[in-house]
Amino acid sequence: MKKILITGGAGYIGSHTAVALVNAGFEPIIIDNFSNSDKSALNGLKHILGRALTCYEGDCNDRSVMRRVFDENQFAGVIHFAAYKAVGESTQLPLKYYTNNIDSLLILLETMSAYGVKDLVFSSSCTVYGQPDVLPVSEETPRQEAESPYGNTKKICEDILRDYIKSGVPSRIISLRYFNPVGAHPSGEIGELPLGVPNNLVPFITQTAVGIREKLTVFGNDYDTPDGSCIRDYIHVMDLADAHVKALEYLFVQKDNFYDLFNVGTGNGNTVLEVIKTFEKVSGKSLNYQIGTRRPGDIEKVWANTDKINKLLGWQAQYGLEDSLRDSWNWQQRLGERE
Ligand SMILES: NC(=O)c1ccc[n+]([C@@H]2O[C@H](COP(=O)([O-])OP(=O)(O)OC[C@H]3O[C@@H](n4cnc5c(N)ncnc54)[C@H](O)[C@@H]3O)[C@@H](O)[C@H]2O)c1
Repeated sequence: MKKILITGGAGYIGSHTAVALVNAGFEPIIIDNFSNSDKSALNGLKHILGRALTCYEGDCNDRSVMRRVFDENQFAGVIHFAAYKAVGESTQLPLKYYTNNIDSLLILLETMSAYGVKDLVFSSSCTVYGQPDVLPVSEETPRQEAESPYGNTKKICEDILRDYIKSGVPSRIISLRYFNPVGAHPSGEIGELPLGVPNNLVPFITQTAVGIREKLTVFGNDYDTPDGSCIRDYIHVMDLADAHVKALEYLFVQKDNFYDLFNVGTGNGNTVLEVIKTFEKVSGKSLNYQIGTRRPGDIEKVWANTDKINKLLGWQAQYGLEDSLRDSWNWQQRLGERE
């Protein structure tokens, strides 16, 4: 079985990707320093898969740790999730974000090159588009100045990868620009585990529904959208996980010295108020929410043009918003049972 290294594999998207990799016949090996995840994710994976996966507890910024991981395994490819991702915190602690997110990529590339591992899938984000003039947004759309140090780390990492390939190395690399990942594994064994107050809408909704948060604030209802609230493209994390498998399989058949990037979204946008209404429908709960003022830095609307990934990777989102919210709700309830 081909071994795939998943950096940050105990995190939200990484853990779901581990499941998708096993289902596709790969052997995922995880490295995570648990800075933004919990070892319970490994137990969840064990319940889903019926066996434990190999996990190294270590920091991707530590060259000696990375060398040990590569010494002990022969990898067919790597998926690099490990990064800090809290936009707000990144504006307060930019150096923490630049150091972790950029150094981890540089050290990974160095190590992959030293061990002759060619194939890499990198986690980028639709944040690189800012507020695009034309919707849906395609990969051709020029990137805009980043709104936050976090967003800038994604732009810089994409640039590093492009320059690295331009230098003529034999690597093959894909950046996936995720839209808004939501949902959880349908078993409820793994899901998003925000530490502290959630930054994202759906965990905030589910935490409000179970009473961890008193109420949800909708930041603005005077945007130029059908109901005035912001629009995002919500992609089920299982669909997103599958996109990584498709990206790896695509890389394996490319010639050396290859770089490309793909949007990963559903191709549809939903407003915040639609998400709330859909959540109320699937959960049967009425949500305590209020309309607040706009939040500085929020993008009004963005959703993906997915033609490129549909055509070249043969990937298309299978789950809809109702599925995503049902699975997020199931996960939140399972978390409550554990406590
Ligand atoms: N969730 C989103 O909304 C979203 C959107 C676009 C892009 N992304 C990107 O996708 C990737 C995964 O996101 P996620 O939502 O799963 O985040 P997450 O925080 O749940 O997972 C990241 C994992 O990486 C680990 N980690 C961080 N720095 C590390 C280091 N130096 N060494 C080892 N482990 C380290 C964390 O402990 C965590 O388990 C990140 O790169 C993120 O920026 C996420």
